[in-house]
Order: sequence, then C-alpha cells, then structure tokens
Amino acid sequence: MDIKSTVDLSWDEFDELRQPRAEQSDFDAVVDRAISRRGFLGGVLAFGSGAAVFGSGVLGSATSARAASAVFGFEPIGIATDFDIHVPAGYEWRPLVRWGDALFSEAENAYSAVDGVPADMSDKVFGENTDGMETFEKDGHVLLAINSEYVNPKINLPAEAEGVPQTAEQVQMLKNMQGVTVVEVADQGDGWRVVVDSPFNRRITHDTPMTMSGPAAGSDLVKTNADPAGMSPLGTMNNCGSGKTLWGTYLTCEENFNGYFGTTQEREATAEEKRYGIGGEGRYAYEKFDPRYDLSVEPNEPHRHGWITEIDPTDPNSTPVKHTALGRFKHENAEMVQAADGRIVVYMGDDERGEFMYKYVSNGTWAPGQPTEGLLSDGTLYVAKFHDDQTGEWLALTPETTGMSIEDILVFSRLAGSKVGATTMDRPEWIAAHPHRAEAYCALTNNKNRGVKTNAGGDETPVGGPNPRETNRYGQIVRWKPEGGDHGAAKFAWDLYVMAGNPDVYDNAYGGSDNVTAGNMFNSPDGMAFSSDGLLWIQTDGDDSNEGDFAGMGNNQMLVGDPDTGEIARFLTAPNGAEVTGLTWTPDRKVAFVGIQHPGGHWPDGEGKPRSSVIAVWRQDGAVFG
Ligand code: FEO
Ligand code: CA
Ligand code: CA
Ligand code: CA
Repeated sequence: MDIKSTVDLSWDEFDELRQPRAEQSDFDAVVDRAISRRGFLGGVLAFGSGAAVFGSGVLGSATSARAASAVFGFEPIGIATDFDIHVPAGYEWRPLVRWGDALFSEAENAYSAVDGVPADMSDKVFGENTDGMETFEKDGHVLLAINSEYVNPKINLPAEAEGVPQTAEQVQMLKNMQGVTVVEVADQGDGWRVVVDSPFNRRITHDTPMTMSGPAAGSDLVKTNADPAGMSPLGTMNNCGSGKTLWGTYLTCEENFNGYFGTTQEREATAEEKRYGIGGEGRYAYEKFDPRYDLSVEPNEPHRHGWITEIDPTDPNSTPVKHTALGRFKHENAEMVQAADGRIVVYMGDDERGEFMYKYVSNGTWAPGQPTEGLLSDGTLYVAKFHDDQTGEWLALTPETTGMSIEDILVFSRLAGSKVGATTMDRPEWIAAHPHRAEAYCALTNNKNRGVKTNAGGDETPVGGPNPRETNRYGQIVRWKPEGGDHGAAKFAWDLYVMAGNPDVYDNAYGGSDNVTAGNMFNSPDGMAFSSDGLLWIQTDGDDSNEGDFAGMGNNQMLVGDPDTGEIARFLTAPNGAEVTGLTWTPDRKVAFVGIQHPGGHWPDGEGKPRSSVIAVWRQDGAVFG
C-alpha cells in the first residue's frame, strides 16, 4: 500500500483498504424484517419484556413530548453548512485553545499560519485533532486533560508532498502533535483561557515513559529489545475518547494504534495482527525513521498499545500507567461507574465495524478516601452478548471460557470475544452512564458492512438486535439497564434510544425512529456525555455533505436528548469538515468545553490553516448549564 493513497482516508476507510473483507449475501431474510420501520419501533424507546423481568425503573415508551424549550432551556437551532460554529440564542462561544497555541511562553510565537509548528516547539504547544477531555481540580486550579487523536500530515508538513515526512525530525514533530495535553485554564476576567506556564501544563506524547499494570504487564507478548522486562512502554497513541476515575485521574483511550506500525522488510502478518489491522505500511512512515514502529524489528511493540492509560493530571511528575486488565482493542472511551457492592465497573467500546462492547469489573471494592491499588489491574473483562428479546448478558473472558491464557485474552481481546460468541456491533463509540440511575448508553456510529461482510475475524454480522439495519449509514444509540439496578450484574435489558435516519428520504427503518424528525436529524452519533441534570449530549462524526441520504442534516453537530421522553434537540453546529468530539464542563457547570476536530475552511482564525480547537460555550446570563 502506498502511503500517499492513505493520507486522506478516515481511520475507518484505512481499515477497509488494509483488509478488504469477503462479500456475503445471505442476510436478505433478516433484512426484510429489519427495514419495516413500523415493525421495528416496538424496540425503540421501550424496554421490553426483559426489563419487566428485572423490575424497577422501566422507562416509559412515550415519545410525546414537552416543548423543547421547556425541557432543554433553549430554542433548538437549524442545520448549518458553513465554516462557522452556531449555538442557540442566549449562548455564546469562543475558542479556548487551538492546535499550535502555546502552553509555555517560550512557544508563544511557534505557530505559523503558513508552516504550522516547528519540531523544536512541537511538545510545548497544544496538539492537533482534539478529542476526549475531562476537567480536574487541584488546590483551586482548574485543569483539563485533553486528547489529541491523530495528525493531518498535509497540514503539519505543507512543504512535503502529501505530507509524507522525509526526516526523523519531521516524524518527531508529528509524534509530538498527538497524545495528551494537561493544561490549566482560568477565567481571567475576560473569559476562559489557557494559563500559559502553569506548573500543571504538560504534554504526554508518543515518547513519554510509562509503566504497565495487570496480568499482561511483563509478559513475553509485551517485551521488546528496548524493554526486555516488558514493563516500561513509551507513549500513548491515537488517544480518542476519555474517562475519569472516581478517584480523580484521567483515562485516555488508545484507538487506531494499528495504523502507526509498518514494516521495512517483507513479512507475513500473523492471524492476531490481521484481526487488529496490523501489517503493511504505517500511515505516517514512522517505521522508516524509528525502529520502534518497524514490525520487522519490534513485532511486540504494537502489543504495548491499544490500552486504557491512566494519567494523574494533578501531578506533572507522575508516570502514566497502561492497564492491561481492561483489554486491548481500539478503545473509544472508558465510562467508570460502581457496582452496588462497591466494585469498580468500566464500560468500553471497540470502534471497528463488527467489533464488540466490553465491561471490566474489579475484584476489589472502593469508597472515597480508600486506596485505589489494584482496582484497574485485578478484575475480570467481560464482553456483551445481546439477544433479540431485548435482554443481554456479559460473558466473562477467562482461560476457562476461551481456552486462552490470561495474557492472550488481554492482548488479543478481540479473539477472546469471538471465542465466546460476543455480539458484533455497529462500531461502538462512546459509552455514557446516566448520573442518577443504573442505565448506560452506547453510540453505535454506523456500519456500512452490517449484514454484508464479516468483521476482521470472520465473525458474521447478521442484522438484528441492537444492530437492526443492513448497510447502516446513520447509526443508533443502544442503552441498557443492568439487572437489579446493579452495574455489577451479569444480565441486562436493552432498547434503542434512537435510530438516526433521514425521514425526508426514507419511509422505512432508514427514516429513523420516531424521535428523529426533519427538524433534528443527524447521522453517526459518536461522542456522548451526561450533564448533571440527567440530559444526554450527543456529538456527531458523520457525513456532512448535506446531499442524498444526508440531505437536510448539514454539518456535524451536538444535540441533547431527554432520556425519559426521547426528545432530541440540536444545540450546536460545527464548521463544515469537522466532527464534534469531547465535552466537559467547568466545576461550576456554567461553561462547557466542546472539541472541534479536523475542521475545514479557515476555522477558527478566518484565514490560514484550519485549526482543531476546544471551544468554550456559555449562557449570556451566566446561569448554570450542564
Ligand atoms: Fe476516535 Fe471511534 O473515534
Ligand atoms: Ca469518536
Ligand atoms: Ca467516529
Ligand atoms: Ca475522529
């Protein structure tokens, strides 16, 4: 594969190019069932008989609604197709931090609208392609930990054809533009801004020293020439969604790590590598300049990525920890809740077509003030199995259930999930847990291969259950209630909170569920977070062509949904080209921080390069929102 052909691809397209999957065509019977919109809607917004079995707190099926303004406190906005941000009347926004903005005063003039950021300043500025983020407080200081998922090589290396790096220094610059930023922010009287030179400011890049915890730490699978003990990996990469532990640390989630590795010599990929899309040439030519990324030199290096990594943003000298007990896959985010008995539960999605949804449950319990040792290194990994009757179960991934060693289960979690028959999903993106009741939501962003092709491991992807539409362009949000209202339970009831769709184009399942209208339609739900009032904020990363199947949807957007009524209202529209991803609030909840990734045009400066940025959004009357 020629890297020049991959530089403009989405990570999803890159997967398909690297590993084309066999065509299948035996799903027609189930498709007939799935595309009957009326026939399906019994499963939307109505926990079925399974929920009745589990008793408490069954949601109503009403989609009738209070007026949007009464529920949400704003008048929903229309679509946009321009290169600007729009928010409802009564709200304002402005950039908080842009790609290339200085974290330290020595880098204050580092960014150039023509050349980007020079290599020697590239670890002293805010990285590119902002994604998940969380807010922390330390001694009155407000800190943000923010992911920078990947780089656009053409933007960062405008002098090189197709942005392909030609020197080790250029590779170093690209590496530094990714990873995690910890930055202090403050309202300095004229709105929220970065506190330049704060002692908390820190960049964590592809080269930052880390440690590993859990059963796969130190195993043969993670040993390399540079680290024969397998305990000291370098760097975190493709940091997508985020999570926050109950004890106040940051969880960064390593998603499309596979694309960074390549080989300089002919070599056949193993079955495990193929399942993870590892092989061929890397997207950024790292392997040509850094042997760590060369599979023919360091075949175990990819095993040291694809984890949930814990960072303490309040201690700039702390060493990040990769937690192998939470499994290795294309981690989207990590939503931590607690079981009724105090055990720690982490919900996680694996964002690739036909991959799985996971849950980790600790062996130990925790309460505020107690030690956290072992909570993310000693526990059991489960994978979700959905049944068509709107029940489901978490299947434990253990040597007994899989026939694999615990090290293999954790490093090759996808293969373990296949062994127990997990449900192949429509690309699980963020999972968000309701703050006031035992209920969680997962955005299934889309899956053009649903009912058409297997996943990368050859598992079939039949239409049905929470993945009810063949060639699913629009996506849906599945939610579940654990049995007995206990996130530690092995069983759950599920329904679909929303099926995105286009009611102007389709009068069938592709028209979406009843809570999708011409006035609020969207595609490809991705980022999600609950505000403290129990409303679900939904961010999209989809087709913003506003044409054909997507006519009337406009640019990517952020909406808010009421879990009780199903009502969904559009709150924000992004510049064309961008996805909206990452959402957190100030401690007083008067200001929201929203991530705008890969914008087009000249946003936000109005000239020069487009700059991925975090924006602040607030109410003009200064009231709490979120
Ligand atoms: Fe980085 Fe699945 O989004
Ligand atoms: Ca995402
Ligand atoms: Ca996405
Ligand atoms: Ca993205």
